Amino acid sequence: MGSRYNAYERINILLDRGSFVEVDRFVKHRCTDFGMQDKRVAGDGVVCGYGKIDGRNVFVYAFDFSVLGGSLSAANARKIAKIQDMALKCGAPVIGLNDSGGARIQEGVESLTGFAEIFRRNVMSSGVIPQISAIMGPCAGGSCYSPALTDFILMVEGESQMFVTGPNVIKQVTDEDCDKESLGGARVHSVESGVCSLVCQDDEECLMTIRELIGFLPSNNMEDAPVRLPSDDVTRMCHELDTVVPDNPNLPYNIKDIIEPVCDQQYFFEIQPDFARNIVVGFGRMAGHTVGFVANQPAHLAGAIDIDASDKAARFIQFCDCFNIPLIAIEDVPGFLPGLKQEHSGIIRHGAKIVYAFAEATVPKITLITRKAYGGAYIVMNSKQIGADINLAYPTAEIAVMGAKGAVSILYRKEDPENIPARIKEYEEKFANPYCAAELGYVDDVIQPSETRVALIKALDCCRNKSQSNPPKKHGNMPV
Ligand code: HXC
Repeated sequence: MGSRYNAYERINILLDRGSFVEVDRFVKHRCTDFGMQDKRVAGDGVVCGYGKIDGRNVFVYAFDFSVLGGSLSAANARKIAKIQDMALKCGAPVIGLNDSGGARIQEGVESLTGFAEIFRRNVMSSGVIPQISAIMGPCAGGSCYSPALTDFILMVEGESQMFVTGPNVIKQVTDEDCDKESLGGARVHSVESGVCSLVCQDDEECLMTIRELIGFLPSNNMEDAPVRLPSDDVTRMCHELDTVVPDNPNLPYNIKDIIEPVCDQQYFFEIQPDFARNIVVGFGRMAGHTVGFVANQPAHLAGAIDIDASDKAARFIQFCDCFNIPLIAIEDVPGFLPGLKQEHSGIIRHGAKIVYAFAEATVPKITLITRKAYGGAYIVMNSKQIGADINLAYPTAEIAVMGAKGAVSILYRKEDPENIPARIKEYEEKFANPYCAAELGYVDDVIQPSETRVALIKALDCCRNKSQSNPPKKHGNMPV
């Protein structure tokens, strides 16, 4: 395990050397209850200010756990709210380095209202400026809900935990035994709850990862993401892709073997890699421009869409749309995951989120079908009629209501079993290819896998100045 740093050290690692300007370092709390008049330190429990990442402005606050467990006083809350207000006015991201025991217990309602001030600003900033949270120690109560309202949460393995109520309270209320790590450690939130976007091995890796993430993003919703030039060769053919999709449609393959080669420098920055692994989301660059990938993963649950995959995809799609990042959907999906647990837990309302997010997004939207595009999953994964701008398919694409075997078992239930193989062949010939959809114009072109990078770059380039707006409304009502 690497080093654990204090608040100032963390900020200095995060920001360009010498760029940090502190705000409110003389602020003290005003509480006099419970002997607090003897525990007043300059700056109280949070270090706030602004600085640069790769020469671009960011605002930052870092909790200092050594001051009363980094607990949130009214004074700390006012400092953070000031930074949030400045960031919103100046159109720059806010980065919060959290290491806090939540509301300062000695201050009571004063502290609670402080959280409300921060939460309200988190919400008002959402979709206007990127908000990134690092969890760098134990975070309890309100110190989890502010990060939960931001766009990305990074955790440090073994050092950071997030929970609304701690192990002691849980023991008293439900008689369950747990410790901080098994309750809300990095593994729990990156694999099971989906709260965490990225896990890092130590403080330094966490802060460097935030710098990298910022590099993919615009400073605010009125800007485009920075262009990184010179980019990789835009005419580069990817011959290695010709052998990725197996001939046998039942065999799995890793969808990242398609995503990575097509990105500039073959570099893909994955978000939530360990949660809902049946769908892959993340950023890459093409011709120097940031793009967001949303791809089914045939190597996990055959790429079927379940509740967690729906939540993961929908949130990522929304983020990209907020911040003018074009979307590329890569599709190989046999359908929604069947099962009582999924149905009873609400796959209907969760699955609807992907439709909602893709349909509402006005950024350039490209779809590539590599193999299976069956049923409702075909529709939701950015089909033409959901609003995709350019739809491409490999010759191996199969666009149908369901697989041939399943279809024949329904259509020809009373057929002589001897004729079934011929019926399956007939259905396959009709639908186990992209040409039926291409004839109807639902797929714009059928491309060879080796042409993928070139074709996607041309599609993105053609949509670069796309201008589309949805009907005026206060806001929509996405199923949650
Ligand atoms: C005041 C606090 C504090 C708090 C910790 N400290 N949390 N002081 N208010 N909320 C102090 C401790 O008293 C201790 O002081 C020092 O910080 C370090 O804490 P330790 O417990 O020794 O550290 P550790 O063992 O690492 O445990 C960290 C912890 C634990 C898991 C965060 O301290 C804890 O459970 N704290 C309370 C969490 C909590 O219930 N917060 C309120 C949530 S409600 P000394 O002087 O001994 O060094 C909330 C409202 C908003 O946040 C909800 C919105 C939805």
